[in-house]
Amino acid sequence: MTQEHAQAPPLGAGLAGRGIVVTGATGGIGVAVARAFADCGARVAAVDLAADEAQALAASLPGDGHVGIGVDLVDVQAHEGLVREAEEAVGPLAALVHLAALLHRKHDVRDVDEADWDAQVDVNLKATFFLNRAFAEALREAGRGGAIVNFSSQGWWTGGFGGSVVYNATKGGIVTMTRGLARTYAADGIRVNSVAPGLVDTAMLSDGLPPERLQALVEQVPLGRMATPEEVAPTAVFLASDHAAYITGATVNISGGWLMY
Ligand SMILES: NC(=O)c1ccc[n+]([C@@H]2O[C@H](COP(=O)([O-])OP(=O)(O)OC[C@H]3O[C@@H](n4cnc5c(N)ncnc54)[C@H](O)[C@@H]3O)[C@@H](O)[C@H]2O)c1
Repeated sequence: MTQEHAQAPPLGAGLAGRGIVVTGATGGIGVAVARAFADCGARVAAVDLAADEAQALAASLPGDGHVGIGVDLVDVQAHEGLVREAEEAVGPLAALVHLAALLHRKHDVRDVDEADWDAQVDVNLKATFFLNRAFAEALREAGRGGAIVNFSSQGWWTGGFGGSVVYNATKGGIVTMTRGLARTYAADGIRVNSVAPGLVDTAMLSDGLPPERLQALVEQVPLGRMATPEEVAPTAVFLASDHAAYITGATVNISGGWLMY
């Protein structure tokens, strides 16, 4: 006997026509994330350091109503204005997907200096807190729920490989902050989650990592390869969508089995 099933809602359930802020949008994974949201019919505010690249990305996305915004997220005083500017351009915001990050590799930990520490902590951790808060407060004031998806890394758990101790300390902080903010904003209907990718084939991963070191890491991955950015993006869409309505405070492991939790 055959049974008829109603068609399942698409991956980006609830996101069509909604505004999404994607930071780090012109980076290796950010482009795929911006595209995945646009593919779901969302209107994307693509945020990155370079305004012209962000605008070119926005113009290249499928659908209408996207915008590119150039901003240095280290300037946390600019965050409230950024959220307002994004909302004016793409309409009521449904989600913040925050990828912007810096990795300064120092293979000898004795070479890490204060400038390395400050640069990575300022972008990866400080800007994450202030931008998450600016976004959540704008939604709270408007009386609307929404979602935040932060980008952590496998290094939040492992401490990292390849000269990335400070970077991974910030990624651990993102997991902890995600949990704290999830609890803070749950009553406002604002869900806060993070994703923790393993090895994703982008310049950030390979820059400063000798190919044989990278190969040795890839060999530890049960699936036997790096992820493509396009394999990471749908998890961010899922977490922002109505499918994840009962998920908050989570960190989703996307590591090809490298880590299992
Ligand atoms: N590539 C990987 O293997 C991997 C693994 C785990 C986690 N991640 C995380 O995924 C996210 C994206 O990584 P990626 O590989 O696409 O890196 P990427 O370096 O290609 O992209 C990062 C983007 O952030 C932007 N950015 C940096 N500082 C900024 C600032 N001050 N203001 C505004 N924008 C700024 C950069 O311009 C860049 O476009 C990051 O959070 C990264 O930590 C990546």
